[in-house]
Amino acid sequence: MKIDLSGKVAIVTGGAMGIGEACARRLTLAGASVAILDQNEAAGAKTADDVCKTGGSCDFLRCDVTKSDEVERCIRDVAAKHRTIDILVSNAGIQHYGDVITTSEADWDRVISVNLKGCYLAAKFAVPHMLAHGGAIVVLGSVQSFTAIKNSVAYVTSKHALLGLTRAMALDYAQRCIRVNCVCPGTIDTPMLHWAAGLSPEPESVIRTCNRMHPLGRIGKPEEVADAVLYLVSPMSSFITGAALVVDGGRLVPAGGMGFQEGGTGAATQK
Ligand code: NAI
Repeated sequence: MKIDLSGKVAIVTGGAMGIGEACARRLTLAGASVAILDQNEAAGAKTADDVCKTGGSCDFLRCDVTKSDEVERCIRDVAAKHRTIDILVSNAGIQHYGDVITTSEADWDRVISVNLKGCYLAAKFAVPHMLAHGGAIVVLGSVQSFTAIKNSVAYVTSKHALLGLTRAMALDYAQRCIRVNCVCPGTIDTPMLHWAAGLSPEPESVIRTCNRMHPLGRIGKPEEVADAVLYLVSPMSSFITGAALVVDGGRLVPAGGMGFQEGGTGAATQK
C-alpha cells in the first residue's frame, strides 16, 4: 500500500531540523500540507522554503511550544488556513545533562516544559480540530522512555512521562477515531546528537561509542524515524493506538548493553 496523505493537514513541532525536519519532508512527500512550529525562526523558515521548492506545501510558524498563547495562536492559524488539522507530530525536545543535585530547578523546569508540557499544549489545541473527523498524533519519546542513562534525570523523566501522556490521550480519544502513538528512537544523527557529543573533548569518540551501542552497528538517520512516524499517521496503522514503536537499531535488546556482549563472556565468545 502506498501511503497517500493528500488533503491531510499536519503540524510538526520542532520541525526546523533533525527528526522533525525529516518528518516534515516525509509528510509533504506523501501529499500532506505541513506546518512547522519551531522557535528557531531562521532554520524553520529555511526548511519550509526548501520543502516548498520540492513541490510540497509547507509553512513555518515561529512558536515556543512552552508558551500556551503562542501554541494556541499558531494552531488556530493553521486550522483557519486549511479548515482542519488531521495529524500532529509532537517532536520538539531538548536534552540536558545532570543528576538531581546538579540539575538546577530552572533547568529541570525548562526540560519538563519543552519536552512534556509542550506536547500537552500542542495536543490541547490540536485535538479540538480533530474531534469531528478523527486524526493521528505521534509523540517523540526515546529509548529513554523505557530505560535510563546516567546524569540525564530531567530528560529521562520527561521521556518516561510522554509514554503516560500518549496512553492517556489514546484512551481519551479512541472513540473519536484519534489514534495516539509514541515513537521511541535510539541515537539518531541530528544536531541534538552533535551538540551532546560536542560536550566531550572527543566528540568523534562519542559518536563511535554510540555506533557500537546499537546492534546494527550504527546510529540511525532522521529519515528512519520519520518513516516510522509516517506509518503511524497513515491508514496502514489504523488498528494501532496507545503503542510505543521502538526505532533503535536493536539498542534495547541486549541485556547488559553491547559492552557486556563484547566483554568476552562465554556467551559472547563460544560458538
Ligand atoms: P534537534 O535538537 O536536532 O531538533 C529539535 C528541534 O526542536 C529544533 O528545531 C529546535 O529549534 C526545536 N525546539 C526546541 N525547543 C523548542 C521550543 N521550546 N519550541 C519550539 N521548538 C523547539 O533534536 P532531534 O534530535 O531532532 O530530536 C527531536 C526529538 O526526538 C526530541 O524530542 C528528542 O528528544 C527526540 N529524540 C532524539 C534522539 C536523538 O538521538 N537525536 C533520540 C531519541 C529521541
